[in-house]
Amino acid sequence: MSLLSIRDLVVRFRTHDGTVFAVNGVSFDLDEGETLGLVGESGCGKSVTNLALMRLLPLPAGHIDGGKVIFNGEDLLTLDESDMRDLRGKEIAMIFQDPMTSLNPVLTVQEQMVETIQAHRRVSKSEARARTLELLGMVGIPQPEARLKNFPHQFSGGMRQRVMIAMALALEPKLLIADEPTTALDVTIQAQVLELLSRLAAEHGTAVILITHDLGVVAGMTQRINVMYAGYVVEAATTKDLFARPRHPYTVGLLHSIPRLDAQPGEPLIPIEGAPPDLRFAPLGCPFAPRCAWRVDRCWKEMPSLEPIDPSYEVVTTGPQATHRAACWNPPTSGEVVAARPLRPGFEPAAPPAQVGS
Ligand SMILES: Nc1ncnc2c1ncn2[C@@H]1O[C@H](COP(=O)(O)OP(=O)(O)OP(=O)(O)O)[C@@H](O)[C@H]1O
Ligand code: SF4
Ligand SMILES: [Mg+2]
Repeated sequence: MSLLSIRDLVVRFRTHDGTVFAVNGVSFDLDEGETLGLVGESGCGKSVTNLALMRLLPLPAGHIDGGKVIFNGEDLLTLDESDMRDLRGKEIAMIFQDPMTSLNPVLTVQEQMVETIQAHRRVSKSEARARTLELLGMVGIPQPEARLKNFPHQFSGGMRQRVMIAMALALEPKLLIADEPTTALDVTIQAQVLELLSRLAAEHGTAVILITHDLGVVAGMTQRINVMYAGYVVEAATTKDLFARPRHPYTVGLLHSIPRLDAQPGEPLIPIEGAPPDLRFAPLGCPFAPRCAWRVDRCWKEMPSLEPIDPSYEVVTTGPQATHRAACWNPPTSGEVVAARPLRPGFEPAAPPAQVGS
């Protein structure tokens, strides 16, 4: 049994401006100790999917309109709030892009870590302090004893992210959700923090959902990747397979828009033309159609479901854990993947068709 099984998750925001169709039937599984990347452009629903599973959607606008979130055999969407509060931090922890949103600026690191540990564990203050010291050492804070009485703003960006990781791992959660954990940091520090996160998760057997808009970040960090677009998972594969043979035009676009180690000298990066759709309109057909160089007529009318890409290819199961699945009516061939274009000249992005408003 998977540690986490999300099925057909639907999230909407009801705003003065209309309904935002933020997550439109997302399903995926995560095994114990596994690391899954969730990748896609800004606004595609990565954070909202995870806030929904933690039941932390901003209120009153955010609603879960359907689906199941089975964690350790229990549907989190049916738990009462006090059980859910108990589970957060202890069983599922989250690290955010900006640690200042999670760290309390007016408490020292010792105060907030001791408080977190004592809220969930029956330990004395001195035991909680000893654990805090151990955790700060584990995440590589130099002279942790001397830093216990520091406030969050007294740490550099990279060190604050390490404190966040220490806090997240304090209660040895089974699942750690890291939402763009390093984008605010410079590239070298990013690599160090990600390496630390990855090593500690492996040592503790913690499953990780790593959210990022940057495919480069997840390459060395994850076993599997879900690519999201407009509130849908459009491609799901092992990391190796996704890079070796992407099958969704959007993934192909993403891969050609990031620098690659194997690029030929002078090979240009190719941005994806056009912009993501406005999620205040009910999706009609494939949401990538206006930007897609592979689109066919059917794409404007029907959204394809996420299916195994190749019946001859060995598939683990046909459910959400199938090895490689894509939601596409006209997947690129391997030659087209390399060229990043279908072999038909003159493609121009189109305006989306008139859609049903909310
Ligand atoms: N509080 C809110 N009210 C209304 N709409 C919201 C709210 N929060 C998020 N949304 C919308 O939900 C959609 C998904 O947002 P989400 O934050 O999950 O994107 P994301 O993939 O995490 O993007 P980013 O990479 O920028 O963090 C977006 O269209 C966003 O505008
Ligand atoms: S379904 Fe059609 S429009 Fe959507 S990605 Fe596939 S080919 Fe492109
Ligand atoms: Mg986000």
